[in-house]
Parts: sequence; C-alpha cells; structure tokens
Amino acid sequence: MHHEDRSSRATELRALLNHHAHRYYVLDEPEIPDAEYDRLFAELQAIEAAHPELLSADSPTQRVIGKVLDGFTPVRHAVPMLSIRTETDTTAGGARAFDERVRRELGLAEDAPAIEYAAELKFDGLAINLRYEDGVLVQAATRGDGETGEDVTQNIRTIGQIPLRLQGVAPPVLEIRGEVYMRRDGFERMNERQRERGEKTFVNPRNAAAGAVRQLDPAIAAQRPLSFYAYGLGETRGWDQPATHSATLDAIAACGLPVCDRRAVVAGAGGLIEFHDAMAAARDALPFDIDGVVYKVDATLLQRRLGFVTREPRWAVAHKYPAQEQVTTLNEIEIQVGRTGKLTPVAKLEPVFVGGTTVSNATLHNLFELRRKGVRVGDRVIVRRAGDVIPEVVGRVPGARAAYVPNFRMPAACPVCGSAVLRERGSIAHACSGGLYCAAQRKQALLHYAGRRAMDIEGLGDRIVDQLVDGGLVRTLPDLYDKLDAATLAALDRMADKSAANLVAGIAASKSTTLARFLYALGIRHVGEATARDLARHFGRLDALQDASVEQLLEVNDVGPVVAQSIRAFFDQPHNREVVAALRRSGVHWPEGQGALDDAGPRPLLGRTLVLTGTLPHWSRDEAKAAIEAAGGKVAGSVSRKTNWVVAGAEAGSKLDKARELGVEILDEAGLRALLGGTDDAA
Ligand code: IVH
Repeated sequence: MHHEDRSSRATELRALLNHHAHRYYVLDEPEIPDAEYDRLFAELQAIEAAHPELLSADSPTQRVIGKVLDGFTPVRHAVPMLSIRTETDTTAGGARAFDERVRRELGLAEDAPAIEYAAELKFDGLAINLRYEDGVLVQAATRGDGETGEDVTQNIRTIGQIPLRLQGVAPPVLEIRGEVYMRRDGFERMNERQRERGEKTFVNPRNAAAGAVRQLDPAIAAQRPLSFYAYGLGETRGWDQPATHSATLDAIAACGLPVCDRRAVVAGAGGLIEFHDAMAAARDALPFDIDGVVYKVDATLLQRRLGFVTREPRWAVAHKYPAQEQVTTLNEIEIQVGRTGKLTPVAKLEPVFVGGTTVSNATLHNLFELRRKGVRVGDRVIVRRAGDVIPEVVGRVPGARAAYVPNFRMPAACPVCGSAVLRERGSIAHACSGGLYCAAQRKQALLHYAGRRAMDIEGLGDRIVDQLVDGGLVRTLPDLYDKLDAATLAALDRMADKSAANLVAGIAASKSTTLARFLYALGIRHVGEATARDLARHFGRLDALQDASVEQLLEVNDVGPVVAQSIRAFFDQPHNREVVAALRRSGVHWPEGQGALDDAGPRPLLGRTLVLTGTLPHWSRDEAKAAIEAAGGKVAGSVSRKTNWVVAGAEAGSKLDKARELGVEILDEAGLRALLGGTDDAA
C-alpha cells in the first residue's frame, strides 16, 4: 500500500471506529457485530504499529490502559467550575421561590411572560471537565475546589461513552462539563462480586464512581462500569454557542457525547413543579441515582444578565429529593431464613424516612460483610434505599459505644427449626440444613409454588401461608390440595367465607397447568422461569426429565454443570420424587408430551428474532414483547442482518431506517398479529 493510501485508510478506520463506538456506547444501537468492530480495530492497530507516524491521540486504539501513577497532576481550570445553590424548600415552594427570585433580579413586571427554563436531572456522581482541542480530547479534570482540579485523563479515556474526537466539529477549544456516574445495575453487580469473595463493598454508586476516577491504576479504573452525561460548557474558543442552554446540550449531543434525554424546556414555576414531580415519580425506575433536579434559565442572554454570586450562578438551582441514605439506630439483628435455607442477618431499625419511604428493616447481607462493617446492636448506622433494590445497612457512623456490646454471631442452630447451621465449602453464606423440615423454608417454598409465574394460586399470600404452616395445617406441597377445604380456611384469622371459597377455587384451578410452570414451581435450586421453560421444551415429559443424566441435562439450551447437578440432586432425593408423585395424585396435570408449549399454544415464531420500534396503536411495547416471546420468538434491541422482522409503529426512528437499509421485512401491528396467528411464511 502506498503511504497516502495507508494514511487515508487509517483516517477512514478511525472515523468508522469512532462512529461505531458512538452507536454502541452512547446510542445503545450498534450497527455491526462486535467481531466486525474488533476486526476494524485490529486493522488500524496493525497500520499504526508498522507506521507510528500515522498514530494520533484521538485514535480509538489509544483508549488503552496507561501506566500506574504516583499521584495526579493539578489542573487549573480555564473557567472556574461552579457549584449550584440548593433550594432549601424541597416542596413545590422551592421551585416557586426560584422563579420569583429570577424574575425579581431581572426586574420583570408582574404580568411579563413566563420565563423558559431548562429542567434536568441532578446526577449523583462527580463533575468532570473534558477539554477538546481541535476536536481531540486532550485533558479530563476533576472539579477539585472549583479553581484547580486533578488531571484524570488516563482514567477518563477508558470510558467508552466519552469520544476521543468530537463528531463533525473541531474548534480550537471546546470544554464540555458533565457528570461521571455509575449505573445501579453495574454497581450492584460489582458489589455482589465483592460480597461473594468476602471483600469490601462500595457504599453507593457515587463513591464507587469517584473511587474509580481517582484510581492511580488505570487498569482498575477500566474495569469499573462508568458512564457519563454532559450538562454544560467550560472554556470555548471558535465555537458558536447556541442561544439557549437546551440547544447547547443538543449541540453537545450532536458532537457525540451522551446527554440525558430526561430533560425538558418548561415555562415558569408551574412547568418546574410539573417536571420535579414527574421525575420524582420516575426516580426509582431510573437506572442510576439522582439526588434531585436542576433548573437553569434557558436563554444564555438572560443567564449573563443574572450573573453570579461568589461561586454560584443566579440562573441555576438544585431542587433536591429525599436522600437515599439516612442515619438511624440499629435496634436488633434478626436472622431470616430464605427458601433455600440461606441465613441472612436483617437489621431491625429505628424507623427512618429514606429514599421516599419509611424503612425499618434492612439487609446486612451476610456475617462477613456485617463484621467488616463493624456494626453492632445499638450503633448509629447508615441505611441506603435506592430504586427497587432492598434497603441495606452500608456502614456505621464512627464513634464510641456507650457500653460493651458483643459482636454478632451466627446461631449454630436454625432459629426457626433448630437444625444445624452449615456453611457450604467455598461459600460465604450460612444455611439451615433442615430443608423442607424447616418451617421457614416450607413457607417460602409454598409462597414460591403459589406465585403468579409458578402455579398462580391467587389469594395464597404471606399471611395465610404463615397461619397454614404455623397451625400445622400444611406441611408439604400436596397438603395444599389434600388438607384444605372452605371450612378449614374460613376458620383462619381475618378470613371471610367468600375469600375462603375463592381460595379453594384458586387452589383447584391451579391443578391444570403446564410442565414449565410446574417445574419452576418446585423451586429446584438454579431453575428459574427461563430454565424451566427450556427443560420443558427439551424433554416434553416429566418422567424423561426426572431420569435424565447430568450429560443429558447438559444438552439443554443454557444449562451448565451447576444447574444440571442441581436438577439431578433434586430428583435423586426420594422425598422430592414422592412430593412430585403426590402432587400428581392430587390432580396436578398438564398437556403431557407438549411440555414445550407453555400454555399449550403453538409457537410460530420459534427461532425468529424481531425488533420493535415506535409506538404501536393498540399494544404497549411490553405487551408486544410478551406476545412475541409467548410465540417462541425473541425481541432484540437493534437491527442486524439476523433480524427476521422489524415491527414499526408511529414515530419509528433509526431502527426503521436500518431495516430498510438491510432489506429486513417491516411489519405494522396488524402484520405482527398475523404472524402470531400462525400465518408464518418462513423468513
Ligand atoms: S450544572 C453552573 N447540571 O451538581 C452550574 N450540575 O453543585 C454548574 N450536577 O457537582 C453545574 N447534575 O457535578 C449541573 N444537570 C446538572 C447536574 C449537575 C449533577 C452536579 C455537578 C456539581 C453539582 C453542582
């Protein structure tokens, strides 16, 4: 290859790789398979290795892991990094006070039109300044004291979402500011891994993110699941800033940086309050922590007129939500016994309002974690509740104890049934060895069996199961069918005749089921809903499954050695076989030989992949997805050559374009219904 050709190929590869990295990390819509990306990457690496003169700082190959540092170099910010005033009134009054202040400071008349605000989320991570020169990322710095931060470029370069080169523009200087944060799922996974190893866990996603950014070893930083959202600018030279903050964020997004789309331009205090309330309602379901919302005067001209007081702009304010961490007293440590016998220390707390609800129980996970955190009864402890994750005690508030309190010990005997407590080899968890002899495990097993996705017995909840087991009315699963009648149930505490009759009917109705549901309901360790479905589909008949060897089990889709062993061990226990036989004697049945067909319907979409885009006229996305999956199909997030159909509704976006480009067949809702109806003419 000639030098010019090589050089232009390198440029082309860099542009391609940057484009695909943006699709993958920022838009979550990859256009090419990972292997293709890897191939392009390797080609560029090879060119650069042979011709180092072609290397450039913005090359995707330079997103490599640097050396371990002794410390961070201070960076003086070209434009100070300000903080935001926090509105003290957390009710709607806070938004009104801000709007009134802005109007007063601008000298607006009472009847002047409403001010437009950019309303955003207040991300709970740490502020970072990204400096791009001539379009290339040259430096990333922390906020520090606002004047001087630390150079963390090495670590920031490992965040895939942050482009090393801006898309489409290359002004002499463009500084983009935003928040580095960690998603809750990544945080939980990281902590779960630490817990399994008996190692130190992180208190919250913010601390974990801050720790990763300030890691001296970039290899460690690179393993931490970090994300980024841009929310403003620092120094700019040779860049035309749009006239509003919202348009500035649009422009930043167009440069290839992630900008959160949970934002709005709203008018006046009313608009702010509406946004505040909508985000409060959405908060638990967001994939990341926020500690409030931020309001900014949208017009940059007005921002300039308002100016600053010391370190804070007069045109912005933070409006907070209830904190996700609170301090309270640990009154007691109780042991909870789970369905599989696992013992979990649970903190009984002085009730405290945290993350929007009152919490009086929180998990301490396991003995090792409890010990490492050094919490003892009577301590002031920090409780965290975020999203739908169960509340947890993350640590104790340092300070002397008034009196000596012995360290917590795991009981040697199960607090529920008295069986020996054992710890499995190589496992952190303690467990009751009582199995179904243990009332706690039996209760959990019954609740699981009756669950909506298992045998679906309506009305068989916590309160009733407690009474049935504690009163000795139900010992084993078959007892549900053999020992309960309306009179027995009506005698239970707070049980009306009508509810008793309904429950009897519900129990009877559950007898007619599917093999997949039944397998899941048995509560075999490691057999979740999806595995149960795969097993049912593969074996078709229960006898075949019960007698299958580990090798035969391993042939099932997604069944590995741990799952196979667990199934084998379950059916090797005569007592489990007896429970299964008794359930069948009591009338539990399913369409035999048709196990694959959960709910006994045909599966016209087996082995097919569909992509949904836009809004369908009658179905929500979840409904459409459920219908496709029930028909055996898969729903993928992005369109590729392997996609069989794209189902497009109103306002379908780039996925529709992609489908056209690849010649993938496009359907509307009616077309999807036709497919589900079984008019499947092979794609
Ligand atoms: S704007 C001039 N917007 O909150 C205003 N900050 O004290 C500069 N933060 O640590 C900040 N989400 O990192 C802004 N949407 C958002 C934000 C946000 C989180 C953080 C920021 C800083 C603190 C402000």
